[in-house]
Amino acid sequence: MGTPLAGTQPRQDPRMVGRMSCIAVCSVKGGVGKTSAAVNLAALAAMEGKTLLIDLDPQGSATYSLAVGERVPGGASSVALDGQIDAVVKTATVNLDVVPADFSLRRLDTELADVRRPRRRLRRMIEKLGEGYDHVILDCAPGIALSIEGILRAADLILVPVEPAALPMRGMDQLSAYLAGDRRLQSIPMVAFLSKVDRRRATHRRLADELPNERDDIIGVIPYAVEVEEMPLKRKPLVESAPSSRGARAYADLWRAVSERLAA
Ligand SMILES: Nc1ncnc2c1ncn2[C@@H]1O[C@H](COP(=O)(O)OP(=O)(O)O)[C@@H](O)[C@H]1O
Ligand SMILES: [Mg+2]
Repeated sequence: MGTPLAGTQPRQDPRMVGRMSCIAVCSVKGGVGKTSAAVNLAALAAMEGKTLLIDLDPQGSATYSLAVGERVPGGASSVALDGQIDAVVKTATVNLDVVPADFSLRRLDTELADVRRPRRRLRRMIEKLGEGYDHVILDCAPGIALSIEGILRAADLILVPVEPAALPMRGMDQLSAYLAGDRRLQSIPMVAFLSKVDRRRATHRRLADELPNERDDIIGVIPYAVEVEEMPLKRKPLVESAPSSRGARAYADLWRAVSERLAA
């Protein structure tokens, strides 16, 4: 059988053909490992299919870690509001593109306040940017603001890094309760992974050994590792800069667990 000529196939309903899967890496706290996870998981996703990482934090750490320029024509905040496709930039990693962030994103919440149906606007923007991709990964800014609520609506899975200690665990349960109370977010599964786990510390060791067995919403453990810490210096994901390191293997396990949840 020959290949059908381009243009002779009936147009498929875009909702029916393999829609991208969208993972939002988010947490109320900053500095917990969101960006490290978003960049490394995006690079792993890119080994399987076309992947877009959308950097939604004005600090632009994901943008920086992938060695992409931080100058966004018109400013990242207008991209977030209008979803301009020309904002997408290729990275040095095969199959991985990024929508960079810049400091203008700090104004996003104020700007959204003047927009009709702001949350829906953000969800649509993410869906528009994600067209043609197999995976979209959102690196969120910390906190729960109007913008985050809209961003999370685009997600098929919400992934939260949690440091293994009592207060961060409590923060995770608060986030989960907040999601459960929002009609448009309650159906989106939320899972967490233990982040920056230092096995020399008794509490870390105990929680890392117990929690993944006790709670099925904890799907992975990322060790505290120098190669993760150094990623912003090397400006490359670990699959490229240190593929056999402990950190790289832990992110690969996490990616498998995330993929299983997405398929469930
Ligand atoms: N597993 C880890 N081991 C060592 N350092 C880490 C690890 N995860 C994150 N870090 C470091 O902690 C800081 C915050 O991490 P980051 O991923 O930027 O968090 P967030 O995006 O939540 O603010 C960064 O300096 C990063 O390099
Ligand atoms: Mg970050």
